[in-house]
Amino acid sequence: MTRYELEDRLLHGGDYNPDQWLDHPEILEKDLELMKKSKSNTFSIGMFSWSQLEPREGEFHFEWLDKVMDDIYSIGGNVILATPSGARPAWMSKKYPEVLRTNDKREKMLHGGRHNHCFSSPVYREKIAIMNQKLVERYGNHPALFMWHISNEYSGECHCDYCQANFREWLKNKYGSLKSLNDAWWAPFWSHAYSDWSEIESPSSIGETMVHGHNLDWKRFVTHQTIDFYEHEIKDLRRLTPEVPITTNFMADTHDLIPFQSLDYGQFAKHVDVISWDCYPAWHNDWETTADLASKVGFINDQYRSMKQKPFLIMESTPSGVNWHDVNKMKRPGMHLLSSMQFIAHGSDSNLYFQWRKSRGSSEKFHGAVVDHDNSEENRVFQDVKAVGEALEKIKEIKGSYKAAKVAILYDWENNWALNDAQGFSNASKRYPQTLQEHYRYFWNHDIAVEVVTSEADLSKYDLVIAPMMYLIREDVMARFASFVSQGGILVSTYITGYVNENDLTYLGGWPQQLQEIFGISVKETDTLYPNDRNQLRYGAQTFEVKDYCTILELGTAESIVYYEEDFYAKTPAVTKNNYGQGQAYFIGARTGLDFLEVIYDQIAKETTLANSWVIKGDKEVSVQSRDFDEESYYFVMNFSESNKMIEVASESLDLITNTSKDCQLELKPYEVLLLKLKQN
Ligand code: GLA
Ligand code: ZN
Repeated sequence: MTRYELEDRLLHGGDYNPDQWLDHPEILEKDLELMKKSKSNTFSIGMFSWSQLEPREGEFHFEWLDKVMDDIYSIGGNVILATPSGARPAWMSKKYPEVLRTNDKREKMLHGGRHNHCFSSPVYREKIAIMNQKLVERYGNHPALFMWHISNEYSGECHCDYCQANFREWLKNKYGSLKSLNDAWWAPFWSHAYSDWSEIESPSSIGETMVHGHNLDWKRFVTHQTIDFYEHEIKDLRRLTPEVPITTNFMADTHDLIPFQSLDYGQFAKHVDVISWDCYPAWHNDWETTADLASKVGFINDQYRSMKQKPFLIMESTPSGVNWHDVNKMKRPGMHLLSSMQFIAHGSDSNLYFQWRKSRGSSEKFHGAVVDHDNSEENRVFQDVKAVGEALEKIKEIKGSYKAAKVAILYDWENNWALNDAQGFSNASKRYPQTLQEHYRYFWNHDIAVEVVTSEADLSKYDLVIAPMMYLIREDVMARFASFVSQGGILVSTYITGYVNENDLTYLGGWPQQLQEIFGISVKETDTLYPNDRNQLRYGAQTFEVKDYCTILELGTAESIVYYEEDFYAKTPAVTKNNYGQGQAYFIGARTGLDFLEVIYDQIAKETTLANSWVIKGDKEVSVQSRDFDEESYYFVMNFSESNKMIEVASESLDLITNTSKDCQLELKPYEVLLLKLKQN
């Protein structure tokens, strides 16, 4: 058993930057006292320590880190030790400019910032290998070492000569011959066929490439090269500390809180032991309700849990505000506990913060922190953090529990890349990730657990699979859809599905045959609407507004359950249902609002076991998420609204957060959260 597996506490603590305070021993001393008082037990250290660990080339200083590791151990804490490749010392950029990133315009960046090294540079690889080897030799057996945190928020791309050469190598491996590359890229278009490998370069904004296969392969290569760098970083760690789990902190795309777009995390996830990520919702913003945002937070957490189908970690979140939103608003009273519990409810075994102590200078000096510049335990934020620490101690029996789901939503990175690159439809209204989140919203509203999986996932364990807007769809994915439905599954797909294959080449001969069979329809045309255009759908006696996309369909074996009301395709099928083998396939041809999704998914839920049982009935803005062991279920009940809400529980229960008994009828205050364990009737 690893130390991680043996740990019976939920993790609480966060990014700790003692490297910024080495000249202030009294502060480091005070930190230990405050760590205990805030009920913190886990700290990630060293993400940005390179200039303190190796201030001059080949001159290493680990004494300060020795002390920090020992000190944290002395208070019963865990250390998640980072490799420092996220930022490098200036001497390295100066002496070895090749470590600096080159942008897509082929401009070499200057030293500064972070997360900006070349993933191919032999020097950078050599330097980080030396550093990581020293870290593992020195701390591999340290009793506080809990997990390795590789680099920090890997992202971005480099277009230097090394990266170009690696890209070409990668293409050679993939295609074997230039002929098959030219075929896959449809390269004769605008005279883009290549006659020598050396002619191929990465796509650039000043040498615009309209060759979509080329763009798509570059994005795949960037993911490949990032993972390759990560694999390089962990070589010695794996060899010398095989029992210490390895993670790297993933992200989400921030303003909208949609899945991170520039790296295929579905691929990256296979290389880490534990999924961890950094979650920074803009609570209390002025463009959406608290429940709107909470549902998106739920979606992304479900996605990260689903990657390994086991508990994940929140590696960073803020105890108050951040410094990089457009407006950095504080959390209102109650929100810190609620939002922390939401992470746990969706399967996280931690809430860790960025940052432990607010830095004194530079760009993060106003970013939320557990310990503020006042150095006090009396302020509201510290008290809120401490309350979360206490709550996590009270509910620790749920650590390691899983979360089962019968519904899967498919998120495909390559599809998103290809669709965004497609010139057609309407750029502003493609919104693939947002569309998935809109479908997810039904399940969040109705407290039905969801997994968000890639198109490689095993679908057989789900009752319902939702795969909207699969513009790029591989033949093997269509085949797996067919076997899922024929064996009794329910599949839902939508407009903008089935256009191109994995090379971003369109399917020839009409809508793919396999899809025609599964859905019992054929797609004839897709009408793209202007932002103010509307059409209507008729479903029984009700009408629903649609916008953006309307597919014109021809029925095969499917029945039409909804018709268009207007335009030249009025009275033609808009939503269809097909019996295929033992299962059913629904096709939603137009972009509807949540009102229609509520109705159609209600109907689908009734056809499955999804709607059969209830334990807690409530309100749409009250989210209920369960975590389970084989013998026991735990229900997080979270009021993501600013008003009191009544809920009904199937039996009397115990709230673990406050350790109080609860009746079947319950009133929740704004932002209130409970963790209920039902009493056996
Ligand atoms: C990211 C980084 C941290 C910090 C936070 C601020 O998540 O990993 O180092 O900069 O953002 O929110
Ligand atoms: Zn490079």
